Amino acid sequence: MRTHFCGLIDESLIGQTVTLCGWADVARDLGGVCFIDLRDHEGIVQVVAEPSDAEGNADVIATAVKVGYEDALRITGVVRARHSVNAKIRTGQVEIVATEIQVLNKAEPLPFHHHENPGEETRLKYRYLDLRHPEMQRRMRTRTKLVSALRHWLDAKGFQDIETPILTKATPEGARDFLVPARMHPGEFYALPQSPQLFKQILMMAGFDRYYQIARCFRDEALRADRQLEFTQLDMEFAWVSERDVQDMVEAMIRDVFRDVANVELAAEFPRMTYAEAMRRYGSDKPDLRIALELVDVADLVKDSGFAVFTGPAADAGGRVCALRIPGGANLSRKQIDEYAAHAGKYGAKGLAYIKISETGEVSSPIQKFFDEAAFAALVAHVGAGNGDLVFFGAGKYSTVSDFMGAVRLKAGKDFALVADGWAPLWVTDFPMFEWDDEAQRYVALHHPFTAPSVDDEADLRANAGTAVSRGYDMVLNGNEIGGGSIRIHRASMQSAVFELLGIGAEEAQAKFGFLLDALKYGAPPHGGIAFGIDRIAALMAGTESIRDVIAFPKTTGAQCLMTDAPSPIADAQLAEVHIQVRPRAEKAAS
Ligand code: AMO
Ligand code: AMP
Repeated sequence: MRTHFCGLIDESLIGQTVTLCGWADVARDLGGVCFIDLRDHEGIVQVVAEPSDAEGNADVIATAVKVGYEDALRITGVVRARHSVNAKIRTGQVEIVATEIQVLNKAEPLPFHHHENPGEETRLKYRYLDLRHPEMQRRMRTRTKLVSALRHWLDAKGFQDIETPILTKATPEGARDFLVPARMHPGEFYALPQSPQLFKQILMMAGFDRYYQIARCFRDEALRADRQLEFTQLDMEFAWVSERDVQDMVEAMIRDVFRDVANVELAAEFPRMTYAEAMRRYGSDKPDLRIALELVDVADLVKDSGFAVFTGPAADAGGRVCALRIPGGANLSRKQIDEYAAHAGKYGAKGLAYIKISETGEVSSPIQKFFDEAAFAALVAHVGAGNGDLVFFGAGKYSTVSDFMGAVRLKAGKDFALVADGWAPLWVTDFPMFEWDDEAQRYVALHHPFTAPSVDDEADLRANAGTAVSRGYDMVLNGNEIGGGSIRIHRASMQSAVFELLGIGAEEAQAKFGFLLDALKYGAPPHGGIAFGIDRIAALMAGTESIRDVIAFPKTTGAQCLMTDAPSPIADAQLAEVHIQVRPRAEKAAS
């Protein structure tokens, strides 16, 4: 149908006749002369329809004046140099003088136009129109380049690409499973994989040595800008490795791929930080190191104050009292400070005490009254606050305070434009093996139950479960967890001990993971790996905040596809086939 792509027409084609296909981006009728910006996946070129000439192009302009937004067109014409060069577009030196304009499909009036900044709901409902936009085309192409660069890199290093089942058994990664009824086994269900975790481990036991897969994962969890129900991992596993072997190799891969795809040179060696240090300094296990603000512990300076909110946690081993100084923060109004407290509240804060020191040195603080003069001065000095600064304080349970103060740090970083340009990758290591779940009254795995502890001995692990450190690691980039992995347990006895500590009894372990426990018995090699979030990396490379912008057909935060209207009810006959009876629907669950 066409000889060239719109976006690739350049001066080398001047004088030639070309046939192009695309959409009418903008059509302007200047009375006698008509301009159409014709757009395809490569870009835009200007087409001119001029009044009829000796060659008899009478109907060209008649057709051109009727062209509307997004009409599908096929245009033949001659390339010529443009009078007024448009430096903003790649084809800006040239234009096409139309000799024939065919309207292949007239578009109805559009539900929205890109220039009007449509809301995301509208964009998702008419996703095909949204995706036509050059910016969306660019983002999706970044994703394609990323996946292709990764494959290229891994193929060159001898990794084997192996597919694992989608209809499978639950693999616990901390989310709810999506279930699929098994028609041939009434009352039984397959689970969609939360990740290929167990299959990739078994592939190592099966002698494949280095595996990768661009794997779709399914997790029924609350959606956010960086989370979808189904998302894509670059999943990798290596046999006969220590954590450094895995980390060094994938760090080189990430560096090479960022250079190739995004023209970004990441640090020659990524910094490393333990989980404990990351929580202490940044209140996060995925710190954004582009923001220079740090949390400062102040328990020692407040423990003798008269403020019970501080003295309790200051005296408690599981408590924390810390401060965050925001340089220049004193210009926040009372209302803005309340907004910070409300933001912290979303992360569990019951309040957000502060000390504000105006440019001229006046102090305003709801907690000053609890301190004598010297103690208050010592506190101010310890956090390094001076005129013009604001200091926020958090007190309570260690993890809660770290979470909400970490969130306050991120907000302040953005609000006060304290996020430095550039790229800040790092490794976070030495995660706790277990977290105590107050509600369930038992340990839960911080990573997943197949992650090895740093100790080799089961008795040692059992004796020190509360403080045990795992051999897990995360790769973090600009405050995003882009990858997570670990060295795995490779002996059945240790795996059984970990199941037991997680409250998974021998019988349940056998029923759920018997195949793994069996496979570990026959000479399973030491092994480990990692999985990267392709959507998150693509979003970072494309410079967008939401992974929805690099997924062709994402779900809304309400877990729906607005274009197809999924999920949707199923006819009774089809339900009967899979032996399902739906309970009377009370109300549609929110989460
Ligand atoms: P993990 O659960 O840390 O590890 O996932 C690995 C990476 O996948 C990305 N990711 C997501 N991206 C979008 N939407 C989601 N809902 C989502 N959840 C996770 C993140 C994350 O770093 N089997 C282990 C890996 C291993 O141990 O090798 C696993 O899945 O970027
Ligand atoms: P109150 O005496 O209860 O008015 O509290 C004094 C200040 O302490 C207020 O600014 C509260 O927002 C703050 N505050 C209350 N609880 C906490 C907490 N857990 N951490 C930090 N600040 C708090």
